[in-house]
Amino acid sequence: MDKILVLDFGGQYNQLIARRVREMEVYAEIRSYNGVTMEDIVRSGYSGIIFTGGPNSVYDPESPHFDPAILDAGIPVLGICYGAQLITWMRKGTVRSAENSSEYGRTILYAKESVLFENIPAASICWMSHTDFISEPPHGFTVTATTDKCPCAAMASDDERIYAVQFHPEVTHTEYGRTILSNFIFNVCHCRRQWKMDDFIETSISRYRDELKDRKVLLALSGGVDSSVAAALLARAIGSDLTCVFVDHGLLRKNEADMVEQIFRNSFDLNFIRINAQKQFLDSLRGISEPEAKRKVIGEQFIRAFEEASSLIGKTDILAQGTIYPDVIESGQGASATIKSHHNVGGLPSIMSFEKIIEPLRNLFKDEVREVGIRLGLPAELVYRQPFPGPGLAIRVIGEVTEEKLALLREADAIFRAEIEACENREQFSQYFAVMTPIRTVGVMGDARTYGYTIALRCVTTDDFMTAEWTRLPYDLLERSASRIINEVKGISRVVYDITSKPPGTVEWE
Ligand code: XMP
Repeated sequence: MDKILVLDFGGQYNQLIARRVREMEVYAEIRSYNGVTMEDIVRSGYSGIIFTGGPNSVYDPESPHFDPAILDAGIPVLGICYGAQLITWMRKGTVRSAENSSEYGRTILYAKESVLFENIPAASICWMSHTDFISEPPHGFTVTATTDKCPCAAMASDDERIYAVQFHPEVTHTEYGRTILSNFIFNVCHCRRQWKMDDFIETSISRYRDELKDRKVLLALSGGVDSSVAAALLARAIGSDLTCVFVDHGLLRKNEADMVEQIFRNSFDLNFIRINAQKQFLDSLRGISEPEAKRKVIGEQFIRAFEEASSLIGKTDILAQGTIYPDVIESGQGASATIKSHHNVGGLPSIMSFEKIIEPLRNLFKDEVREVGIRLGLPAELVYRQPFPGPGLAIRVIGEVTEEKLALLREADAIFRAEIEACENREQFSQYFAVMTPIRTVGVMGDARTYGYTIALRCVTTDDFMTAEWTRLPYDLLERSASRIINEVKGISRVVYDITSKPPGTVEWE
């Protein structure tokens, strides 16, 4: 299969570059500049290499560099931002730093005729973010674009198939960014469109069918997108040799546990074990109100639940996990499989030892995982689920968790989610839920005084959950949600809306 290497020099958009390439149905993988050698690259047979941006200055000895011989390997290269300056440095051109030449944000790009700029107008908008700039291109390169401040916003050495752009074609603010990347991938690297999810599914199924023949595989199913899609894919490959263990800790949202069970029992030929551990989890949470202490108790209870499961299942050799590509990249190229296994399933007991761990989704981005899920027949409500924390509603009931508070929270949360999901532009809302506060306040309903709990509603908009903005929800949606919650959930007498962004707040309250 034709593939592109995204050689990562620490830029903030590296994953985005790989996703853009894959959107064009060409496989792209990200490797860190210090995790791969020139020989590895040549041996791997990439059709092209993209050098990413990075926060450094090329003349700083601490900044990431790479063997300049990579430019002589005959593989087409596109350098972006820092990557463009690195090419200049490798080939002995000049990069300079000047405050008055720095550009941030939307900038007009004046493009000349070049294979990279085919089908884009002579003037268009690009996205810049740099202080250093290429003041003198290396020998053999011609300037192919400029901006008002930047004498070399792009350069090319057509004979060698080496290209460089100072701006970021991968971000949507660059008007013709996709066209520029597509020109590089198809007109320079001559890649074929061979990365298709249907093929991925077929290849994975036949591969696992051979590789796992007569082996027993265990998968800890959380009901989240990744583990559900991994389960669906493996079920198609090995059927009832796959056992999915789903721990119902009683901290899931309204009807959630039943939905997960129904989907997996009815649509897939696999062994599904639901461990009903509500009582154990709730008993062990009694009297505990500190958030980290709750998380710890829940982690321990997960281990107990798996111990119980292991006595039901018997021996399994292989553990399957829903690790996805961003997890692999973020954990330093996937060196930490064991750490992830604990992270993903909330802890597996040490008595369960496995010969092997398989991660069928480890090369996929989240949007690709979702596409695979839909193609395998999982319902949209599961595949497009918003993130839900492992400790579940235990960290949304502030303070001590009781059955009564969980029940009130589940109802209020279901109403709020239903109201949001009926909203037209709900894709802008990244995560939304209700929080059960310990505050009781006085209210009046009909002629009677009430004294019930306060529910807080939370909705945030974010790309990566590292930072988040509180969402400016329409007033009528908030009003409808509050009025329905107070009228329909007996025991709630007040509803408030959280307008804290992250930072300084976090998304969850605990
Ligand atoms: P915070 O609250 O840290 O949340 O701003 C960021 C994202 O992470 C989720 N989250 C968790 N997920 N276990 C999880 O699996 C946890 O303990 C946990 N705490 C927060 C949160 O829902 C949000 O999407």
